Amino acid sequence: MKKLTVNAMSATYDILIEKGLLKNSAEYIKNNVKAEKLMIISDSNVAPLYLDTLKSGLLQYGFSVYSHIFTAGEKSKNLTTVSKIYDALSENEFTRKDCVIALGGGVCGDITGFVAATYMRGIDFIQIPTTLLSQVDSSVGGKTGVDTSYGKNLVGAFYQPKIVLIDPDTLDTLSEHYFADGMGEVIKYGCIKSRELFDFLKENDAKESIEEVILICLRIKRDVVSEDEREAGLRMILNFGHTLGHSIEKLSEFSLSHGECVAKGMVMISKATEKLGITKSGTTDEIIKLCEKYSLNTDICYDIDAIAESAKNDKKGSGKMLNLVVTPKIGETLIHKIDKNELAQILG
Ligand SMILES: NC(=O)c1ccc[n+]([C@@H]2O[C@H](COP(=O)([O-])OP(=O)(O)OC[C@H]3O[C@@H](n4cnc5c(N)ncnc54)[C@H](O)[C@@H]3O)[C@@H](O)[C@H]2O)c1
Ligand SMILES: [Zn+2]
Repeated sequence: MKKLTVNAMSATYDILIEKGLLKNSAEYIKNNVKAEKLMIISDSNVAPLYLDTLKSGLLQYGFSVYSHIFTAGEKSKNLTTVSKIYDALSENEFTRKDCVIALGGGVCGDITGFVAATYMRGIDFIQIPTTLLSQVDSSVGGKTGVDTSYGKNLVGAFYQPKIVLIDPDTLDTLSEHYFADGMGEVIKYGCIKSRELFDFLKENDAKESIEEVILICLRIKRDVVSEDEREAGLRMILNFGHTLGHSIEKLSEFSLSHGECVAKGMVMISKATEKLGITKSGTTDEIIKLCEKYSLNTDICYDIDAIAESAKNDKKGSGKMLNLVVTPKIGETLIHKIDKNELAQILG
């Protein structure tokens, strides 16, 4: 078993990674929470695949186990779903001593984490991520939240899990599309922090060494969030490709998924900074090739002005200036500040 420890300012917790871990997770849950009652939150695709395995292990350890299933998909990541979960917890008399478990992808983790942060002003929660994106990214770091009709992740809290349990075997049932989507984030880690990971992905098939790949990505994420839990500085580097990626996601009305938009965003920004002489020439081609190898289409299918306009309104940009995360060469990052009005020009 691989183990990493996150030392964030607000909490310290372990990430365990092992094939087959799901069926043995009760032991680790028992060791990390005081709860007697557990509520497993899962979605309508994941629950039929994995809920029984998790539940039966927990019952053997003497827990009282409840579950709540919501309809799979980003459309469920809202306050209506959160409210239904609060009601399910109240109906079953969950108290502050009890615990919720997220069994699913990033949508499930974000909703469950937000419920945990707010129900009775905070109860314990555990992440059991089942998509590649959630295993390498969203289950670690404590960003929780939901969308409103005005935009994505507009309501949320920083709230860390008690433990993150990763079973790479759960990826066997994940669609090719969502595997590729998660690879968008994996490639991002290579771009921002590890030439070695980037080359490994080039020379090998990530799927065949997925446990190792997840570990390398999480080491990077762990180091970043341990130093900067609340995104005061360093954590920004995790947003490489995201400013433009989010704009593309919005323009597609979320018909394109997060990781594939990040891939497009990484290509767009490095093309621009390569032209400005900030990024080593040839870098963009390298990123395109690697994305294509993992079935990520990097064509920019929207008008550049529309993408730039949408990026100007990004909630992460402060005032007149935009913090662009740039890779001067694969494995390194810097923050390049530009006036928001210059964005369309540098992309063009
Ligand atoms: N909190 C963070 O730091 C953070 C970071 C990145 C992304 N996110 C959020 O994560 C969400 C995207 O996460 P996602 O891509 O995991 O989406 P998701 O949770 O919707 O999962 C994608 C699809 O795969 C299905 N699925 C999940 N696991 C499966 C499995 N093992 N086998 C078969 N099907 C499975 C789901 O039902 C869903 O249909 C977005 O809402 C995004 O905002 C959060
Ligand atoms: Zn992302």
